[in-house]
Amino acid sequence: MRHMPTLERLSASDTTISDFGLSVIEGLSRTQKSLPCRYFYDARGSSLFEEITQLPEYYPTRTEIGILQACAAEVVEGFSAGDVLLEFGSGSSIKTEILLDRIADRVVYVPLDVSEAALADAVARLVERYPALEIRPVVADFSKLVTLPKEFSNSRITGFFPGSTIGNLAPKEAVRLLSNFRKVLGQSGRLIIGVDLKKDPRVLIRAYNDAAGVTADFNLNLLLRINRDLGGTFDLEAFRHKALYNPRAGRIEMHLVTDRSQDITVCGRLFHFADGESIHTENSYKYTVPEFRELAEKAGWKTNRVWTDPDNQFSVHELT
Ligand code: AVJ
Repeated sequence: MRHMPTLERLSASDTTISDFGLSVIEGLSRTQKSLPCRYFYDARGSSLFEEITQLPEYYPTRTEIGILQACAAEVVEGFSAGDVLLEFGSGSSIKTEILLDRIADRVVYVPLDVSEAALADAVARLVERYPALEIRPVVADFSKLVTLPKEFSNSRITGFFPGSTIGNLAPKEAVRLLSNFRKVLGQSGRLIIGVDLKKDPRVLIRAYNDAAGVTADFNLNLLLRINRDLGGTFDLEAFRHKALYNPRAGRIEMHLVTDRSQDITVCGRLFHFADGESIHTENSYKYTVPEFRELAEKAGWKTNRVWTDPDNQFSVHELT
């Protein structure tokens, strides 16, 4: 008599592939291999990015902070008692202190971030620094259309989106995000957003290819993360960091380029690399002030004041 074949029971962890895994498989299956840049920011990636912001070549962070310090008095003119300041992807909320220093007694601060740990750290610091400030942290992904707690439905809300994070999106996706923000912030809403500007490509390339190699480590960390979290077999020695300016698209591109053909495995799947092949890991779009204003208008915003630094490297826009 025939035996019943034994049934193999796989646990969920054997069969379920995480969102990260699915994105990596999808990206590595393309003709131009690519990986989504949002996965740069694990613990090590976040700390490498902090290091990047301190580099002499990486001008955006310190330039934006300078602009915010100079325009803060004008930005906060618009806040009345009870108004809301909502920060999309608040992270450490460090830049926000420039505004909160002036309005902590008047506003409700809503830091919104996917990382509950980052929110908890920031809130712990802010309650010490601003004992009178009302804080309502929200754990959410700003790239999704978020519904705010009901208590804010009659409030005037100012959104805050510094850091030129908008530059990571292709213009069409940027328009979609900005119109989502408009829906979240409502009729009386306002948005203060930081945008990196077009400039001499040599300055741009230096900012993404620093002498100390921190950006290279930041880029390569993505492969380390794939090896650790997805059982990847990338040899980190076989890939090098490359940053280039694509003038037609108006963007910095980061790639990881290999100098030898090889096969690697991720989530049990095999991917072939030819000699010289690259993985496209990030876009960082740069705009002129008029280009960005046009983009914001496509998303239904009215463009208002705009502040820049004396060297026109970076811009902060007020949209209403
Ligand atoms: C965090 C998106 C603003 O595009 O300049 C820095 C990320 N990548 N160096 C940028 C980044 C490489 C950064 N943003």
